[in-house]
Amino acid sequence: MHTLSQESTEMHEGAREKIAHFINAPDSSEIVFVRGTTEAINLVAYSWGIHNLKQGDEVLLSLMEHHSNIVPWEIISKLTGFSIKYAKVHNDGTLNYEDFEGKFSSKTKLACLSHVSNVSGVVNDVKRIAKVAHDHGALMLVDGAQSVPHMPVDVQDLDADFLAFSGHKMLGPTGIGALYGKKALLEKMEPFQGGGEMIKDVSFNQEKGRCGISWNEPPWKFEAGTPNIAGGIALAEAIKYLEHLGMDEVLKHEITLTEYALKRMQELKKVTVYGPTDVKLKCGIIPFGVQGLSSHDVALFCDNFGVMLRSGFHCAQPLHQVFKLQSSARASFYIYNTTEEIDRFIDVLKEMEQF
Ligand SMILES: Cc1ncc(COP(=O)(O)O)c(C=O)c1O
Repeated sequence: MHTLSQESTEMHEGAREKIAHFINAPDSSEIVFVRGTTEAINLVAYSWGIHNLKQGDEVLLSLMEHHSNIVPWEIISKLTGFSIKYAKVHNDGTLNYEDFEGKFSSKTKLACLSHVSNVSGVVNDVKRIAKVAHDHGALMLVDGAQSVPHMPVDVQDLDADFLAFSGHKMLGPTGIGALYGKKALLEKMEPFQGGGEMIKDVSFNQEKGRCGISWNEPPWKFEAGTPNIAGGIALAEAIKYLEHLGMDEVLKHEITLTEYALKRMQELKKVTVYGPTDVKLKCGIIPFGVQGLSSHDVALFCDNFGVMLRSGFHCAQPLHQVFKLQSSARASFYIYNTTEEIDRFIDVLKEMEQF
């Protein structure tokens, strides 16, 4: 009841409203604070999946998913016995829509798809897949880790049942993210973790010698323990800044940089760009390889010149299997990058080719 606690509650709940508005969620109670995309997907798996998926049911995923949208489903399928089917990805990294749509049946209960691939930057038409999912009475989970930070995302337009994203990919701090879930679903779901805040009442029954518990309303039902108050408020501040720039402008800037980088990368003799090179199909991520060098060597070389790349399989090994690669180096852009930095990146790659 004291002033400072009320102020922080107001700021934290205000942050929830800001996040809801940013993705056009109808109600702020549909925003659950989580540690990030990984925790958001695990929350759906454990609070919805375990209680609603049984033997004979099917979950559809794609081969371009981040491990965080594969592993939780594989873990819980072993607990309840449902099946998982993986939709194919074309050799250029784009989704095989015919294969995905052809895998739907009356057994399908959930489809999970990344909005944007963290390896190739390919943008998936999740609205199209959500429509097919709903026509089959299935739910749609969208992994928005790489879309929410980079483009306008409207959960009502997509008709996503769940959308997961992380604060640290959109100028916010680590350890905070959000799960959007349709209110009617969140209301019916079981809690994720137990503890303070997520309960309405815990009372000891003398006769039974046990405690009877009733759950709090969503979203608090899913937020056990002291929340990451500072993280939630900071994420909302990051969102205010992104809104000030305008998400259309953020996307436009990234597309300009990607187009420029792809054009300049054609000057390089020993560099192969993976995935599509048409910017209409993707946003600001370019995976590539350098002849004769491992992706870690490429990243280390570039790091010596102050160019930061990610290397490895980017938590998406099945997609690297599609590309027939062990790993890739990845250049990615955000609002703070410039064409001058891309020129520097190309210069460093040229030096690497010489080396
Ligand atoms: C597409 C995608 N999904 C999920 C994740 C997992 O996000 P986090 O590690 O923030 O939970 C990432 C992170 O790189 C990602 O790019």
